[in-house]
Amino acid sequence: MTRTAIVPTMGALHDGHLALVHRARELADRVVVSIFVNPTQFGAGEDFARYPRTLDADRVLLDGLAEVFVPTVAEVYPTDNPPPVIHAGPMGDLWDGAARPGHFDGVLTVVNRLFDLVKPDVAVFGEKDWQQLTLIRVMVTERHVPIDIIGVPTVREPSGLALSSRNRFLNPDELEKAALLPVVLRQIAESGGTSESIIRGAARLDDAGFMVDYLDVVDENTLEPTIDSANARAIIAARLGSTRLIDNMPVAPAAER
Ligand code: PAF
Repeated sequence: MTRTAIVPTMGALHDGHLALVHRARELADRVVVSIFVNPTQFGAGEDFARYPRTLDADRVLLDGLAEVFVPTVAEVYPTDNPPPVIHAGPMGDLWDGAARPGHFDGVLTVVNRLFDLVKPDVAVFGEKDWQQLTLIRVMVTERHVPIDIIGVPTVREPSGLALSSRNRFLNPDELEKAALLPVVLRQIAESGGTSESIIRGAARLDDAGFMVDYLDVVDENTLEPTIDSANARAIIAARLGSTRLIDNMPVAPAAER
């Protein structure tokens, strides 16, 4: 039987997305990359209108690698039979959800709808959006959705900056500064996630001109703050100019320090 994988994206593809596609190709015979800039996951005043749309270039990148599925808004959200809204619950109100109310309801609703349209056996997501990945895992578990959810480690620039479609909004000066973000995360991760390292890291970013939204160490499954370095992640969101960057790294367990 043909095994189908989906890689849901909002386009503006980069090597991080291609890593997802390559992983999907290892896991399935048929790989579908969806490209849909989902309006319901953007809040008022967010960057929906300016989100990069590079469909022709995306198609070239995917040529020979995957099927490209570019649904319309009417296909995803038919007005005569709207898909169910999936609520992310309290975990969706933490971190990015606190800064972007309703964001994760929009993400889960569209992911669930894409699953419905494509009927995949497996779905591949980047670990860069750790909270998103965690919430999708919770959604399929709670709703008994028979789809394997696979996370792929973050792909980084040589500077360490996590690849993101939004990096193209950074001017050359901001791009150089942005490399401090993974440096700080790595120091926190390598320190075992101590509160001193978090305070020092936040101050460093502040001095460099970042507006830190959150910087903390959390249990990687519950997303609650933790001081236990086992199964923990250092997570960050920070604004540089008009661009909001997010990233995370696994905290080194005591035995590995
Ligand atoms: O990570 C993204 O690009 C989006 O949140 C997703 C999963 C494609 C849903 O719109």
